[in-house]
Amino acid sequence: MSKIVLEHIDKYYGDNHVLKDINLTIEDGDFMTLLGPSGCGKTTTLRVISGLEKPQGGTMTIDGKTMIDAANAFYEEPSKRGLNLVFQSYALWPHMTVYQNIAFGLKIKKLSKEEIDQRVMDSLKTMRIDQFKDRYPNELSGGQQQRVAIARAIASSPKLLLLDEPLSNLDARLRIDMRVELKRLHRETGTTIVYVTHDQVEAMTMSTKVALFKAGEIAQIATPLELYTNPIDIETADFVGSPRINMIDGTARYDGSVMTVDSVLGRMTFDKETLKLEEEIPENEDFEAVLGIRPESVKIFAKQPADGSVIPAEVYASQPAGSETIVTLEIEGEQKTQMLALQVDLQEYEMFQKVWIGLDPRRINVFNKKTQRLIRFAKAKRKEEGED
Ligand SMILES: Nc1ncnc2c1ncn2[C@@H]1O[C@H](COP(=O)(O)OP(=O)(O)O)[C@@H](O)[C@H]1O
Ligand SMILES: [Mg+2]
Repeated sequence: MSKIVLEHIDKYYGDNHVLKDINLTIEDGDFMTLLGPSGCGKTTTLRVISGLEKPQGGTMTIDGKTMIDAANAFYEEPSKRGLNLVFQSYALWPHMTVYQNIAFGLKIKKLSKEEIDQRVMDSLKTMRIDQFKDRYPNELSGGQQQRVAIARAIASSPKLLLLDEPLSNLDARLRIDMRVELKRLHRETGTTIVYVTHDQVEAMTMSTKVALFKAGEIAQIATPLELYTNPIDIETADFVGSPRINMIDGTARYDGSVMTVDSVLGRMTFDKETLKLEEEIPENEDFEAVLGIRPESVKIFAKQPADGSVIPAEVYASQPAGSETIVTLEIEGEQKTQMLALQVDLQEYEMFQKVWIGLDPRRINVFNKKTQRLIRFAKAKRKEEGED
């Protein structure tokens, strides 16, 4: 059980305003990822939650109990917040074995010897390091030490687990394995997890919700699918997803019932129902827009199909990677426009090859170039809807 509510949190380091009016609700059982580039305030937010930093403004409750009330200079002791924190740089006791490192906190809790043994071995197995239980930290690689730190945190069955880039020292393969284990751990224990990373793939693959940070502010809080399908602005769209989203400039016009966008891709028409009407959408005048098109929703035809609105293009380069092929396309216009297309499986394309591309209008985001914000929602692609 752990629901965390942060309201109007402000944190300064000297004159540096590093957290600006952070409002974030983490529901019981969430796997909430704080995502964003380096220096945007993710670690500081974790430190505020854990009690290692005192914000100058705002409140925080855990399960309704006040933990921070800055206006009244109230900050609950870290040890009384019922949480466990694993840092990017983890400190293991050098004079204790892996087993002792993990058992230490449990002994303080005065658990029975059997209970301690059970928990230590379970957490070691989860992190797949049980074979190292009798080693000392200096006999382990950085990645193994990092896994011990996570094992130590989960052994105490905290109701709230705070993890700050815990997979950063692992090689690519182990990182993927550990993503799976953390996800299972979350599901099996039901522990609320707050997870910090700058890696959008980690955020997308593990979380139930993502809070996207931008220079000390939260730009968007959404499920991974929603963040991917409908990023709130151009910068977010560009940050999430690999290969990156295609951004095509166009001229838009909204007459109060439909919006058209003219670009190198021709004219596209979007129904009012798919527009984000609370955003700034000028009426009855041309304005600059940007189409956001994910590479996997660009279809390539080697022959001109008889029907459908297809756009002629030329293959600029193709990167076959076994399971998928990334194709860079060039579209003729006043100036050449490049687009990326992600094709499943291995597909052969020649440089300079003439092709045709097809786009599904349901998958296209539109941004207002002036405000940079999303003005048209796209639809997520789901197999069960029987689409395509
Ligand atoms: N102890 C500190 N003293 C002064 N400035 C700090 C301190 N910790 C972090 N900062 C500054 O606060 C900002 C946010 O840092 P941080 O929360 O560590 O970012 P992130 O974890 O997203 O990379 C950065 O500009 C950083 O330089
Ligand atoms: Mg950090």
